[in-house]
Amino acid sequence: MDLLTQLTSSYQQAFPAETADLQTPLLICSPGRVNLIGEHTDYNEGFVLPAAIDKAIYLAVGPRADDELHFIAHDLNKTFQGSLTDLTPTHTWADYLLGVVAQFRQAGHQFSGFNCVFGGTIPMGSGLSSSAALENGVGFALNELFHLGIDRITLVKRSQRAENEFVGAKVGIMDMFASMMGKADHVIKLDCRSLDYTYAPLQMNGISIVLCDSKVKHSLVTSEYNTRRAECEAGVRFLQTFYPEIRSLRDVTMPMLDQHLRDTEPLIYRRCAYVVQENQRLLDGVAALEADDIDTFGQLMYGSHEGLSHWYEVSCPELDILVDIARQQPGVLGARMMGGGFGGCTINLVREEVLEDFTKLITEQYKARTGKDTYLHVCKIQDGTNVIS
Ligand code: GLA
Repeated sequence: MDLLTQLTSSYQQAFPAETADLQTPLLICSPGRVNLIGEHTDYNEGFVLPAAIDKAIYLAVGPRADDELHFIAHDLNKTFQGSLTDLTPTHTWADYLLGVVAQFRQAGHQFSGFNCVFGGTIPMGSGLSSSAALENGVGFALNELFHLGIDRITLVKRSQRAENEFVGAKVGIMDMFASMMGKADHVIKLDCRSLDYTYAPLQMNGISIVLCDSKVKHSLVTSEYNTRRAECEAGVRFLQTFYPEIRSLRDVTMPMLDQHLRDTEPLIYRRCAYVVQENQRLLDGVAALEADDIDTFGQLMYGSHEGLSHWYEVSCPELDILVDIARQQPGVLGARMMGGGFGGCTINLVREEVLEDFTKLITEQYKARTGKDTYLHVCKIQDGTNVIS
């Protein structure tokens, strides 16, 4: 039985009364994301270059006649029951759903309780944004089920606020934006300050986007993530004494950092310098893609990884090893860790003719050097959150 059939049948078994008049639940697909370049730049009002991928969370949803919320996490084999009138964090997976519901209530929308069964193909903790996909899926479902007429960008902002305020992770907007706004065969160039965005066709003739999962769950990520944010904000505050017009690292240049931070605040300097340089790498990368110069783009990816590992210090030995092995394979144009860090996946640009060699090399050497198995996935870039049926 495929996953969608399993979710539908689990829904119909769990909620027979509701399905009697609704026949079948509404099915929604909400994808995970990759980011080609521009890491830890979103919360610094910089640029990112993400895309939605063919790994997704699927949700079967339907309204209830009462105020209750009945959720089933199919992959975890867990259930949750609550009520619209009591939305407090549970510190479990249910918070990703409850947080979104709370945002809709705060915005003043009237709606009944609902049932939801969800499951997916995004490995949890792999840095592919399963949480953003789930939050978007819930917001999209509420909008459809109750005909609320909310636009996609507002849904994105609600998902982010759900995660910031209810789940308590101070993440930027990239993951939700990519999952909701993705377009097949395109990357999104997003300005995280204005939320202006453009789609750039991904013309990767003969080149695959390959994810290598370190199988290290990014457990450190929340605390270290919040620390990095605070370090960037400290850098901005420091520079504001010299340049009061600065609002974020987006407004900062390397000469400013060299003059005022390098000698006095070396740690803050390294963090801020990484972000300023990563924004520039993204702009150079977009120009390279436009010029069909994938080799240059790949080199910028390696540069991004160096910065993340040594200056921003959000990598881990396993991710560094994956990138190191990728470098040894002719036909790999670029590789870097992706997402928050401390585990999860690397993203690699691999010429199709060496895909088999690359898979063999990574699998064997990663095992030999870490004792761990890796898992490779060749990504397809697909549309964002949508109704399946
Ligand atoms: C996580 C966050 C994003 C972004 C990345 C790093 O995925 O959820 O907002 O900050 O880390 O680029």
